[in-house]
Amino acid sequence: MDTDPYAVIRSILFRLDPETAHRLTLTMLPWVHRSGLLTSFLPRKIECPRVVMGLRFPNPVGLAAGLDKDGECFEAFEAMGFGFVELGTVTPRPQPGNPAPRMFRLPGAEALINRMGFNNQGVDALVERLRRRSSQKSPGIVGVNLGKNRDTPLERAVEDYLIGLRRVYPYADYVAINLSSPNTPHLRLLQNDSTLPRLLSTLKEEQQHLTDEYGRRVPIALKIAPDLSPDEVEKIAHTLLAQEIDGVIATNTTIDRTAVAHLPHGTEEGGLSGTPLGDSSTAVIKRLSAVLGGRIPILGSGGILTPEDALAKTRAGASLVQVYTGLIYRGPALVAAIASALCAEAP
Ligand SMILES: Cc1cc2nc3c(=O)[nH]c(=O)nc-3n(C[C@H](O)[C@H](O)[C@H](O)COP(=O)(O)O)c2cc1C
Repeated sequence: MDTDPYAVIRSILFRLDPETAHRLTLTMLPWVHRSGLLTSFLPRKIECPRVVMGLRFPNPVGLAAGLDKDGECFEAFEAMGFGFVELGTVTPRPQPGNPAPRMFRLPGAEALINRMGFNNQGVDALVERLRRRSSQKSPGIVGVNLGKNRDTPLERAVEDYLIGLRRVYPYADYVAINLSSPNTPHLRLLQNDSTLPRLLSTLKEEQQHLTDEYGRRVPIALKIAPDLSPDEVEKIAHTLLAQEIDGVIATNTTIDRTAVAHLPHGTEEGGLSGTPLGDSSTAVIKRLSAVLGGRIPILGSGGILTPEDALAKTRAGASLVQVYTGLIYRGPALVAAIASALCAEAP
């Protein structure tokens, strides 16, 4: 008999369409957390602190952006054992995202394809929830991932990131700049060598002003795509060094369908996550690490479904890891399993 209660929950959730299952989970989770049920079924939170980007992470396993976009249940995710939770992507104004269906399961590959398109309630709704948190400060690290509104022209994208940065600055532990979602038209072009240095230097300047204003420095990390050429990854790494960016998250989802084109839903448009993304994201981490040489920390994301997958990321050069699709397929017990494996290795 299967003793993992998640096997039962998963069999129910997987009968629902993916977005309904997602919504139901986010609705139930705060209640499950408050009732004490969550912690009674899960192993104790693994404590093995890591100092990265000047912040003390209780353990190196984070929830990747996109699952709790509007910050509706980050306390529950912290209680689930995550050392940190990345909220967002949020945009300055609320927006509905793409028409449904826009999220697909590929169980044969332990993968998802999504083209949500930054559906979110807008940065102010998130700030309101974070404001409440700061009055009863929870111990975990909370990052906020920022994007641009779909209808903001690309040449004015920096204004959206500046709005987001200013709004969340007093409440976020770190900020992630998302230039790598495949579901906002042309967003990934901002990773190009012709635009990236200027965009990052503008954000760095604002970070300095805000540090002076609030007496607290909130680190900024850049989240990049797995579909960049090795040469492009190296150029980005050099730009990160030149601009003294605090961290880099590698990677977002992929537009490559080679591994899944034969599967049901395998050719849906959007970003592919889960197992088929693992190797390409690890390759990006290795390439970044070769240039960065430990001077800027890497947060590894993409295809972590087992502790071994997470170890591949840290061995490639990541200091922390993030999980999304693995949580859907393997359940919350995965968090402690990964944390134990990473903590058994020297940081
Ligand atoms: C349904 C879904 C929505 C996502 N939304 C976002 C998002 O809003 N912002 C972002 O930076 N990444 C987003 N991601 C990407 C994840 O944060 C993560 O980087 C990616 O899925 C790779 O990790 P995984 O293989 O563990 O899922 C999303 C992923 C999924 C599956």
